[in-house]
Amino acid sequence: MPVVRGKIIEPLYTAEQIAVRNKALALQIASGPTNDLLVIAILKGSFIFAADLIRALHDTGLAPEVEFITLSSYGTGTVSQGVRIVKDIDSDVHGRDVLLIDDILESGRTLKFAKELLFERGARHVSIAVLLDKKVKRKEELEADHVGFECPDYFVVGYGMDVAYAFRELPFVGVVTGDALNDA
Ligand code: IMP
Ligand code: MG
Repeated sequence: MPVVRGKIIEPLYTAEQIAVRNKALALQIASGPTNDLLVIAILKGSFIFAADLIRALHDTGLAPEVEFITLSSYGTGTVSQGVRIVKDIDSDVHGRDVLLIDDILESGRTLKFAKELLFERGARHVSIAVLLDKKVKRKEELEADHVGFECPDYFVVGYGMDVAYAFRELPFVGVVTGDALNDA
């Protein structure tokens, strides 16, 4: 079992499994609307998934432009929850087909906010690709068009995803299961 920063990380989806899914997702995406395609990665968690997926898109013959948007959720518990733009894209989306990429679809608030924002700005078509879908956590009526894996309700790390800024560098998706025994 991999040990990182003294924690045991149990792999949930290996690098090999993820690579297979990325190829399949790219083929699905290529068969949909891709006119003047703009791919927008939602930072920070999606950065590795987006990097691999856009190269898989290239392998299908697509030549998308790539942008980044940083979104942040605010409010917890009983306070009404919302999403705000921390750093916006620079491109004009008017009349374009847009693919939003995120790491996890959970409540759906982040992606609902992003999708509505792009339609308000005149995008012609907006589709959504996520690596993981945690359906049981959904609070909004929103589904992704392209899903890597249906994910159980675990807190996952790796492949871009963090807990307290750690573990983004792992090449696989895993779950922190405990502390490694110290044999010193
Ligand atoms: P939501 O769909 O608006 O609830 O947003 C889901 C976002 O929460 C994801 O894009 C992640 O940034 C973060 N997130 C949710 N679950 C996890 C997890 O298990 N590990 C790491 N980040 C998570
Ligand atoms: Mg995120």
